[in-house]
Amino acid sequence: MADDCEVYLRPLRVEDAATSYHWRNNPEVWKNTGSAPDRIVTIEMETAWIERALADSNTKRYAICLKDSDRYVGNAYLSDVHDGQAEEQIFIGDPQLWGKGIGTRARSILYDIALTMFGVRRVITNIRTRNIASLKSVLKLGFVEVARDAEWVRMEKLLER
Ligand SMILES: CC(C)(COP(=O)(O)OP(=O)(O)OC[C@H]1O[C@@H](n2cnc3c(N)ncnc32)[C@H](O)[C@@H]1OP(=O)(O)O)[C@@H](O)C(=O)NCCC(=O)NCCS
Repeated sequence: MADDCEVYLRPLRVEDAATSYHWRNNPEVWKNTGSAPDRIVTIEMETAWIERALADSNTKRYAICLKDSDRYVGNAYLSDVHDGQAEEQIFIGDPQLWGKGIGTRARSILYDIALTMFGVRRVITNIRTRNIASLKSVLKLGFVEVARDAEWVRMEKLLER
């Protein structure tokens, strides 16, 4: 994997809205996710969303950044954090950056944060059956399938120090 695809996570910031509202308006990004924007998202709407999201103590929101340039390229979340478990969600906002290992690396860092900062021992993710890249990524990271229907696969990973 190229060095320019090394990543780090930092807490999401309100100013990130200036970048992420563009991603919200690209249907390509949301074609395989659980939910998708159903209207044009303005910078004001995105700013308000980040403000609300950061105020929610059950959810931990991170920005995915490239190490070589500090470029902000996507979001990674832990939600419903309680009793040693959490759900995860991720997206990379620029489709040109997909398939370069960024998502898998960001997820791995997210799980380290989940374990060391929030005592999470079980990470859960729900992925659409058609989202091959996301499924491959979590399988590589050691997730196992725990349930499935025609549209969704539920995967879990146990974390240990
Ligand atoms: C899903 C997503 C986070 C994966 O991140 P990524 O950086 O693109 O994925 P990676 O480069 O780490 O690749 C993971 C695996 O998927 C494979 N892959 C990547 N794109 C693929 C594609 N379009 N079709 C099939 N496999 C693909 C990779 O080859 C890799 O498998 P390998 O190691 O066996 O070769 C990213 O594509 C994305 O943000 N998509 C849009 C939003 C989304 O779907 N979020 C996830 C919701 S559950």
